[in-house]
Amino acid sequence: MLGLKLPTDPRWVNIVEKNIEEILTDHAYCEQKAASTAISLIIGFPEKSELVKEMTALAREEMGHFNMVHDKILKRGWVLGRERKDEYVIELMKFFPKGGSRETHLVHKLLYAALIEARSCERFRLLSEEIQDKELADFYRNLMVSEANHYTMFLAFARKYGDKKEVDQKWQALLEHEAELMKNLGKKETMHG
Ligand SMILES: [Fe+2]
Ligand SMILES: [Fe+2]
Repeated sequence: MLGLKLPTDPRWVNIVEKNIEEILTDHAYCEQKAASTAISLIIGFPEKSELVKEMTALAREEMGHFNMVHDKILKRGWVLGRERKDEYVIELMKFFPKGGSRETHLVHKLLYAALIEARSCERFRLLSEEIQDKELADFYRNLMVSEANHYTMFLAFARKYGDKKEVDQKWQALLEHEAELMKNLGKKETMHG
């Protein structure tokens, strides 16, 4: 699914179910970070008009998701906690060497974003299928569709702004790296943990 090389162990959902407050808190910040990434692409590459248009729409959509998660937190009588560290994203983003041209930097940012969307989509699907809480199952089913579209968009932009063959090679290498990381994950009540 989505090109991912290693599926999440479904037992991850059992861990999540024991701490809904924690997963919702972490999830809220995933949406905020997705919006921040979209904004940073606008700031970094203002001359790419098509990208700017799409990232403007995406930043709004992701903050819409943030708002939905925030409402779920409030509805359950909780208050949004502090940001959780996303070790998965931190490790993932060490893969491509720093430096290089602006175009290379753009391609790398787009590929990271595509992969984070793909993995989030896979996690949302798992939650929608396995979580006992009916309201959350429906919630995650709807979000899963959005994230799948984002994954496709980021990958298409990477192929548009980079050399297609080179981008495809980098994408495969990143997928392999991510699968290695995933071997040690799926054990925490965070969206990518
Ligand atoms: Fe989102
Ligand atoms: Fe997204």
